Formats: sequence, C-alpha cells, structure tokens
Amino acid sequence: MPKLIVVNRAGEESTVEAASGLTVMEAIRDNGFDELLALCGGCCSCATCHVHVDPAFKDKLPALSTDEDDLLDSSDDRDEFSRLSCQIPFTDDLDGLKVRIAKED
Ligand code: FES
Repeated sequence: MPKLIVVNRAGEESTVEAASGLTVMEAIRDNGFDELLALCGGCCSCATCHVHVDPAFKDKLPALSTDEDDLLDSSDDRDEFSRLSCQIPFTDDLDGLKVRIAKED
C-alpha cells in the first residue's frame, strides 16, 4: 500500500498507509486526523479538506478544476501548493506524498 506522510497543524509528522483508490482526504480522515473536517464528504463544495502538498509531487497531481480553484480562493491560507485533498486520488504513483493540513479558516 502506498504511504502518505501527514503533517498536522502542530507540525507533527506521521506516516500512514492507505489503500490505493481512496482519495487523499479519505486516507487522512480514515487514519484519525480529526483536524481535517472534510464536511462535504468529498463533493468539492466545502474546502475543509485543504492541504499543502509537497512541491516535489505537485506535477504528479491531477490538474485543478475551476470549482476547486474557486473554493481554495476562499481560504486565507492558500498558496501555490494548496489543494483540496478530496480531489486527489491516492494512487501508487503518489507513494511518499507529504501533505500538511492547512490552517483553519
Ligand atoms: S471534503 Fe469538501 S471540498 Fe473536499
């Protein structure tokens, strides 16, 4: 199973394993990180699954949709590595991906 490295809001890093085929949001949530609210359940309508991705993986991720881009604009913590984790399928290709949970808006 591919590994995902999650950095929580306190800056603590944990490595979790998640089945390929989940989204990054599901992989984080299913491993007990309750800071990631993911309120809409992955429908790309809440932005509470905002993470900052490791720059080394930026080009391996699917392109940003207009909806995702608009939602991220509502966050004060947005930067060039911001993504909604529910919009990233967690594939074997992303083994070792590091994501940092964004600040709460
Ligand atoms: S869970 Fe709501 S936008 Fe990702």
